[in-house]
Amino acid sequence: MRVTQRRFGRDDEAYEVAGPPGHSFTVIPYGAHLVDVQVPDRDGRSASVVLGFGDVESYRAHSDRYFGSTIGRFANRIGGASFELDGRLYELEPNEHPHNLHGGFSGFSAQTWSVAETGPEAGVRFRYRSPAGEGGFPGAVEAFTTYSWSGTGLVVSHEATTDAPTVISMTNHAYWNLGGSLATQRLRVAASEVLDLDEGRIPTGASVPVGDSSLDLRAGPPLGSVIEATGGIDHCYVLDTVDSWVASLDSPATGRRMEVRTDQPALVVYTANDAGPFPRHSAVCLEAHGYPDAPNHPLFPSSELRPGERYTSRTEYRFRSG
Ligand code: BGC
Repeated sequence: MRVTQRRFGRDDEAYEVAGPPGHSFTVIPYGAHLVDVQVPDRDGRSASVVLGFGDVESYRAHSDRYFGSTIGRFANRIGGASFELDGRLYELEPNEHPHNLHGGFSGFSAQTWSVAETGPEAGVRFRYRSPAGEGGFPGAVEAFTTYSWSGTGLVVSHEATTDAPTVISMTNHAYWNLGGSLATQRLRVAASEVLDLDEGRIPTGASVPVGDSSLDLRAGPPLGSVIEATGGIDHCYVLDTVDSWVASLDSPATGRRMEVRTDQPALVVYTANDAGPFPRHSAVCLEAHGYPDAPNHPLFPSSELRPGERYTSRTEYRFRSG
């Protein structure tokens, strides 16, 4: 892995990390965003497989779409923008009124991270110190997001510690498109259930089998047909297995294939139903994290983090072409 610092836009910096031949990614301190991922197609031609911009101003202007950003403190929604922990009520920013989405206005994606380490082993490791009470969340949290290559796998890992009980669930919000129309790209997700959601997209607590419904991605259907049948996916898939290759995206047009492995229990699939300045449904987000709204569902896997504990998450996006 070779890390090169370069200019990004007029006066910001980016870190480009070269992997195997034809593979590189670029990240920036603002929101610890992943701004570019270059991978070869079947003819060896590299191109970016994520939607993104060339300057920080554009990321700020479209911050409500979270292009490539690091999400925290809490991925997806917390219903009513509030939760109770140890008998105390915490009120969060209702940035998707009346709910909290992706940590609120002052979430990790809107913060400028410091560069804790770069190098051939580490890749790029960002650190953010979130003060107690930020966005309404308790506890001062120290968070790290690390981007590196493992062979042709782009590894995104998150870590966090706290000085008081809190909740945490981090993820990356890249919009993937392996080249050519998204409609012809096939998405496989090894999940037999999705979380049931109410009209505000808040989990009811139940899960629903995907069965023969159009949300069933187990056989890897082309996304065009799925989007046509569903109007667009924005669902939380409950993964059948943990810590294995749970999803893949294939582009028949370019021969690129991406396989996803995560140690997280859920994968939100979002077919860019609103892609800001980009065409609707021109990419797909595959966001691995804990269960949405977990702080309000005692039966969901816990999202609590307490002093002395360390939150970790690891997701790998491995590329092949052929
Ligand atoms: C959510 C969508 C939301 C989008 C914002 C996704 O993670 O699932 O509901 O609109 O983020 O970019």
